[in-house]
Amino acid sequence: MSTRKQLHIGMSLAPTWLSGDAWRRADSNIEGIFSADFAVDIARRSEAAHLDFVFRPDVSYLPLEVLATGSGFASLDPTVLLAAVARETSRIGLVTTVSTTFFPPYVVARQLQSLHWISNGRAGWNIVTALQGHENFGLQAMPSAEERYARAAEFTQVVLRLWDSFPHEALLIDRQNGRYADVAQVRPIDHDGTYLRVRGPLNLPAFANARIPLIQAGASDTGRDFAASVADLVFAPTPDKAAALELRRDLSRRAERHGRSPQDVRLLPGLSLYLAPSRKAAHELFMQTHEHVDKARKLASIKQMIGLDLSDWPVDRPVGATDLPPPADNPASRTHSNLLRRLIERESLYLEQLLLRPEVISAAHWQVVGTVDDAVEQILDWADAGAIDGFIAAPGGSFGSLQLFLEQVVPRLVEAGVFRERYRGSTFAEHLEDR
Ligand SMILES: Cc1cc2nc3c(=O)[nH]c(=O)nc-3n(C[C@H](O)[C@H](O)[C@H](O)COP(=O)(O)O)c2cc1C
Repeated sequence: MSTRKQLHIGMSLAPTWLSGDAWRRADSNIEGIFSADFAVDIARRSEAAHLDFVFRPDVSYLPLEVLATGSGFASLDPTVLLAAVARETSRIGLVTTVSTTFFPPYVVARQLQSLHWISNGRAGWNIVTALQGHENFGLQAMPSAEERYARAAEFTQVVLRLWDSFPHEALLIDRQNGRYADVAQVRPIDHDGTYLRVRGPLNLPAFANARIPLIQAGASDTGRDFAASVADLVFAPTPDKAAALELRRDLSRRAERHGRSPQDVRLLPGLSLYLAPSRKAAHELFMQTHEHVDKARKLASIKQMIGLDLSDWPVDRPVGATDLPPPADNPASRTHSNLLRRLIERESLYLEQLLLRPEVISAAHWQVVGTVDDAVEQILDWADAGAIDGFIAAPGGSFGSLQLFLEQVVPRLVEAGVFRERYRGSTFAEHLEDR
């Protein structure tokens, strides 16, 4: 193995390559998105490239204004989907998204441990506190971000304790003496906290010798602190290298404050990739995908994120720092609101330019629009600067971007000595041990 630091790479199953207007392409296979085959195909391709994991983000609500012009948030349940993917793959990690705001921890602990068994130790949990959807769970209003994180911290501890409550070693399966389990090792957790009361134990033993890695998405101050206290991986939007460096350093400091080593918390930003054989073709792919997307929807999203109404904004007047209203008290995602504010504070952009920036169109993720060479160069540059520990690939524009990434970019990262040539382990936690 190379002496260069190893990156950890995930592939979004979202499917990001169908967002914007890309689903309208004749070859998009949009009809297939509610089949398991669709995700199985991506997971197998990602496994052939030896990626660490595939990743399915998820929400529990359906915004109709998004649905009108693209599949948006309509999707199969991620944990059920990944159980199907588990049966068709053998090495790649399977990261599902489950919110700590809406679901009971006993159910979540059991579902994740079930996925872990079904996949022979490949489950991962993306812990989200969720953006919307309270109406679907009998809540009067969305709890504040602070309350959601306080509940998330308690929830995560409950899930970890439930996984420990029925340890693998408690299974004796001693046919001769008729002893199935050593019940002395199976213990209730008797949790009685601020938000949750759970007795336990879990009615499913832990899968042998493999942790379920935790991923955290949400990078406000509170989100970072929560991530630094428990997460193996942080999935965060970092639109430029400076943002990634700042977050990487901050996570290290916070991890140490929580008594962990900085290397225990890895930063994997989202990376949107619009790839084509030439820069010109990549730029065209990007423009075809986003140029004609409903402007009203983008303006509504800006208003919702930072309270700035640009519906009558003159085309020839840049939007600048002085146009920003004061920060809102409780935006759905402070991470995304802060990044959009940061962009407007730093650059004066005409509306037409602003509406094509990642902070508006793709959740503020790092973005490469270019060739395979461009992508490799940027990834190595960020990695060498110590800004990232890997990334989650979100190919955009067409399936071709995904193919170029897996079939050309990844082998180049292997050649450069920053990514594995083959799997050494068979569980997700083992993949994360490559350093
Ligand atoms: C990169 C990223 C990805 C996210 N993915 C999801 C998701 O798949 N589902 C979800 O309900 N919320 C998702 N969220 C929302 C967060 O869980 C969180 O509720 C929100 O960002 C508010 O936390 P903050 O104040 O730290 O930003 C995501 C947030 C970020 C930053």
